[in-house]
Amino acid sequence: MYVSDLRAWLEEADKLGELKRIEEADWDLEIGCISHLNLRRKNCPVLLFDRIKGYPPGYRLVTCPLTSPRRIALTFGLPNTVSTSQLLVNVRDKLALWEANLSSFPPMVVTSGPVLENVHSGGEVDLFEFPSPKWNELDGGRYIGTGGAVITRDPDTGDINAGNYRLMVHDKNTLGIYVSPGKHGGIHIERYHARGEPCPVVISLGHDPVVFGISSVEVPAGTEYSYIGAIKGTPLEVIEDEITGLPFPASSEIVLAGSCPPGETRIEGPFGEWHGYYASKERPAPIIKIERVYHRHNPILLGIYMGRPPCDGAYYLSVLRSARTYSDLARAGVPEVKSVWSHEVGGRFLYVVAIKQRYAGHAKQAALTVAQGLRLSAFRGRYVIVVDDDIDPTNMDDVIWALCTRSDPEKGIDIVRRAWSDDLDPMIRKPTKALFNSRAIIDACRPFEWIDEFPQTIQINPDYEQRMKEKWGDSL
Ligand SMILES: Cc1cc2nc3c(=O)[nH]c(=O)nc-3n(C[C@H](O)[C@H](O)[C@H](O)COP(=O)(O)O)c2cc1C
Repeated sequence: MYVSDLRAWLEEADKLGELKRIEEADWDLEIGCISHLNLRRKNCPVLLFDRIKGYPPGYRLVTCPLTSPRRIALTFGLPNTVSTSQLLVNVRDKLALWEANLSSFPPMVVTSGPVLENVHSGGEVDLFEFPSPKWNELDGGRYIGTGGAVITRDPDTGDINAGNYRLMVHDKNTLGIYVSPGKHGGIHIERYHARGEPCPVVISLGHDPVVFGISSVEVPAGTEYSYIGAIKGTPLEVIEDEITGLPFPASSEIVLAGSCPPGETRIEGPFGEWHGYYASKERPAPIIKIERVYHRHNPILLGIYMGRPPCDGAYYLSVLRSARTYSDLARAGVPEVKSVWSHEVGGRFLYVVAIKQRYAGHAKQAALTVAQGLRLSAFRGRYVIVVDDDIDPTNMDDVIWALCTRSDPEKGIDIVRRAWSDDLDPMIRKPTKALFNSRAIIDACRPFEWIDEFPQTIQINPDYEQRMKEKWGDSL
């Protein structure tokens, strides 16, 4: 199913019976709370808010876009499924293909698109035109960007990056931005500032959820647009902004153009984050001065609600992060990895890796590679648990069973110190420059040296189980 933009995507979600329309909610906390309540249900629908308090009908906001396997399959062009394990396999199968095809799908520059229907420049710019929510009570302001793509150019290589970094509205034409250390958009900003120059920026704020999806996960530097093209099987059409020269998706709903000046900061945050805490307090952060706004008639903003997990974005990120880590492990030379799952509630803090143990030290190799050896999982992790291949990492009962019956804390837990984290880590006391954390790697596999003597697991023969279901099913 080819989906061309957010509107077409919403129509398809509606056909699947997975769209809920909500009218007359308030941008001030109500949309956040409704999204939170929606997220308490497994596979909850996408929410489309209209007639938002204080805004004209048609100025809409979408939350919870990627919270079901079927909508993730729709977004990434995968076979329809309702099973997480199957979805993981489907994503894993496609990742290699998408990456092999990157060079065949560079973005295609076009000169028109519905996003040009309305153009406001200079004094006409008013960021309050859009219904940005104040998501949680202690947030430092209204956040227009939680599901966006911040597009920058590397001044050294010319690479174009699209990253999703939170954006707070300071005033009619100023945003605050938070970028974690080491992220590509932040590196571009630093490189311009080191030359004493402002960093040009364009920001897409409502788009086909694949744009949000790919801007929010680590893909090779500068490949986001080609990645989206490879997923779609057709180049992403982009328009070049007149002011910055930066390309933005032609199918976007809302695009902002401006720059991040060197040496200017304003207080940003606090912001209720995906792990359930206001982890970074209010503090000076870089700003973006907006000089131009493009938007469609009746624009739709895409917002992601962050809060106590599992929050909006958690499930899709678990799927993409796990599939990518699986592929990266194979590429890093770790054999016989059967599955990886980075849990929705634990997020980046917890990875479970299932392996078929082949040699002494295999489990440790897998654990250390996930903890430190891969760009994606090396960042802000905490626990890596390695289990045998009879354990399904997406099944927490299985994982806890393995942890409690196959790991020996004395021998099975190692600590990696001074690892890569950032100030969103609630366990780091701020302010500090020591943005390190430690990692526990836990071997919860049967001990390799006496694996053949390890107590046998209790298994019910599947044929017998089936016969018993048939015989006793009515009484169970
Ligand atoms: C909903 C959501 C919000 C995010 N907010 C931020 C943020 O505020 N700052 C940040 O550095 N990363 C944030 N991220 C993670 C980045 O988008 C992600 O690390 C991405 O890969 C960054 O792009 P880059 O790898 O090109 O730097 C967020 C991710 C999601 C899913």
